Amino acid sequence: MSLKILQFGATGQLAREMLERAGPGVEITALSRAEVDLTHPDAIARAIGEAGETDLVLNAAAYTAVDKAEAEPDLAYAVNAWAPAAMAKACQARGLPLLQISTDMVFSGDKDGPYLETDGPAPLHVYGASKLAGEQAVLNACDRALVMRVSWLFSAYGQNFLQMMLRLAKTQPVLKVVADQRACPTASGDLAAFILSQGDRLAKAPAGAREWGLLHVVNAGAASRYDMAQAIFAQTRPDDPPVMEPVPTSAFPTPARRALNAVLDTGRMQEVFSLQLRPWQEALEDVVAQLSAQKETA
Ligand SMILES: NC(=O)c1ccc[n+]([C@@H]2O[C@H](COP(=O)([O-])OP(=O)(O)OC[C@H]3O[C@@H](n4cnc5c(N)ncnc54)[C@H](OP(=O)(O)O)[C@@H]3O)[C@@H](O)[C@H]2O)c1
Repeated sequence: MSLKILQFGATGQLAREMLERAGPGVEITALSRAEVDLTHPDAIARAIGEAGETDLVLNAAAYTAVDKAEAEPDLAYAVNAWAPAAMAKACQARGLPLLQISTDMVFSGDKDGPYLETDGPAPLHVYGASKLAGEQAVLNACDRALVMRVSWLFSAYGQNFLQMMLRLAKTQPVLKVVADQRACPTASGDLAAFILSQGDRLAKAPAGAREWGLLHVVNAGAASRYDMAQAIFAQTRPDDPPVMEPVPTSAFPTPARRALNAVLDTGRMQEVFSLQLRPWQEALEDVVAQLSAQKETA
C-alpha cells in the first residue's frame, strides 16, 4: 500500500523536490495556488475535508519574500499563519498528521551558539513573526503536528542564494558577499528525502508520540554567506573563480533586519529519528551537478 500525501504547494523548491523524489510507494497530490489559494481558509478546509484517502498532509507553500513582508504584513500572516492554522484545524477534525515547515528566522540571532528547539523565539521581522504564529497555531490546533524549522534552502529550482550568486557572478566584476551571518545551508532535496523517508513512521505515530512538535532539520555544518559563495565557486568555477569581497551585513541594508546567528542544533533530530543530514557541501555538489545536467539538456 502506498503512502498518500496531500501537499499544499506544487511549484516551490521543497514542493518540486517532493514530487521529484517520491518513489513508487508514495502518491503525492500537490495543490497549486490555482487549486487552493492559501489566503482562503475555507478552500483549505474543503481541500483537506474532501480529499480522498490521505495519510499525511504537508504544507510546502509559504509567503517567502522576507523583505517584501515588511510592506505586506496582512498577506504574510494570511499565508504563513492563518493558512496553517486552517490546515491544522481540518487535519485535527480528520485525525490526520500535519507537517509544517518553518524557519530559523523565528530567532533573534543573539544566542552565542546553535539554537535548540527549546530556545525562546524572538523574530526580528514580519516574515519571522508570521512563521512563528504559524508554528504556534499548528501545534495548538493539531495533536499530530510536526513543525520542521529549516534554513537557507537551496536547490536547482526557483530563487535561492546559489542561483543568485551564479547570476551575479556573470555581471559583477567584484562580488560583495555578507560574511557575518551564519546559518546551516540546507538542500531542499535533502529535506524532501527526510520527509519521504519518515513518512510511514509519521503516518502511524499517535498523538503524544515524541515524533511530534518542533524539530530542526538542516544539513550538517554551519557557514556564512561568504563561506557558501566560496564553496559554490570552488565547485562551479574552480579555474576561474570570481573576485569576492567579504562585507558586513550593514553593507546591504534590508527592510527586514537579518539575524547574525541562525545556526540550528539538530540533536533532537538525531535522538528521535536516529539520523543526521549530510554536510551541506556534499549536498551542494549534487545540486551543482544537477544544474550542469540541466544546462547540457537545455
Ligand atoms: N527558501 C529558504 O531559504 C527558506 C529558509 C527557511 C525556511 N523556509 C521555509 O521552507 C518552506 C519551503 O520554502 P521554499 O523555498 O520551497 O518556498 P518557495 O520556493 O518560495 O515556494 C513557495 C510556494 O508557496 C506558494 N504560495 C505562496 N503564496 C501562496 C498562496 N497564497 N496560495 C498558494 N500557494 C502559495 C508558491 O506558489 P506560486 O509558485 O504560485 O507563487 C510556491 O509554490 C516554506 O515554509 C519557507 O517558509 C525557506
